[in-house]
Amino acid sequence: MNTSYTLTAKILHWLMAALFIFVWCVGFYSDHFILSNTDTLRHTLIGLHKNIATTIIFLFCIRLFWRYTHPVPDLPDTMSPHLKKLTHFMHICLYIVLIMMPVTGCLLSWSVGYTAPVLYIFDLPTLIHTNPELKAIIKPTHIYLSWIVGIMVVGHIAAALKHHFIDKDNVFKSMMFK
Ligand code: HEM
Ligand code: HEM
Repeated sequence: MNTSYTLTAKILHWLMAALFIFVWCVGFYSDHFILSNTDTLRHTLIGLHKNIATTIIFLFCIRLFWRYTHPVPDLPDTMSPHLKKLTHFMHICLYIVLIMMPVTGCLLSWSVGYTAPVLYIFDLPTLIHTNPELKAIIKPTHIYLSWIVGIMVVGHIAAALKHHFIDKDNVFKSMMFK
C-alpha cells in the first residue's frame, strides 16, 4: 500500500500552498485595508501580488505533469467510498482554483492595460488588448473567486487537521516530510 506522496509532490504542495496563502493575504490586504487607489503602498503591494502570483502558473504545469506521472497515496479504508470520492473531487476543485486565480488575475491586468510581471524579471506575453467589457466580467470573477477559494482552503486545512487529530489516520502524515 502506497502511504506517502513523493518528495517532489510534497515540495510542490508546500511551496505552492505558501505562495498561494501569501498572495491571497497581500491581495486582500491591499484591496480592503488601503482604501485610496492613489496610495503608493497599494501599488507596491499589488505589484508584489502579481509578481509572486504569476509563478504559480509555471509551478502548476510542473505539478500537473508530476501528479499524472507518479502514484499518490491510497486513502485509508476507514473512509467510506463516498468520502473518498468527495476528497478526490475536492482535490480536483483545488487544482482548478489554483490555476483559475492567476489566469483571471492576468486577464484582469491585461484588460486594464497593465502587464502580468513574473518575479520582477520579465512580463508574461500580453495575450489581450485593453478591454473594458472583459474587465467588467473578470474583475468580479477574480474577487469573488478569491473569497470562494479562501473558504475552500480553510475547509481543506480543517479536513487535514481532522484526519491528524481526530481520525488519527495517515492522511496528514502522507504530505509531511519525514
Ligand atoms: C494565486 C493567485 C492569486 C490569488 C490567490 C489572488 C487573490 C486576490 C485577492 C484575495 C484579491 C483581493 C480581492 C478582494 O478585493 O477581496 C486580489 C485582487 C487583485 N489581484 Fe489577485 N490573486 C492571484 C493572482 C493574481 C495575478 C496573477 C494577478 C495579475 C497578474 C492579479 C491581480 C490582481 C489585481 C489587479 C487585484 C486588485 C483588483 C481590484 O482592482 O480591486 N492577481 N487577488
Ligand atoms: C497549511 C495549509 C495546508 C495544509 C495543512 C494542507 C494539507 C494537505 C494534506 C495533508 C494533503 C494530502 C492529504 C489529503 O488532503 O488528501 C493535501 C493535499 C492537497 N492540497 Fe493541501 N494543504 C494546505 C494548503 C493547501 C493550499 C493553499 C492548496 C491550494 C490552493 C492546497 C492544495 C492541495 C491539493 C490540490 C492537494 C491534493 C494533492 C493530490 O493528491 O494531488 N493545499 N494538503
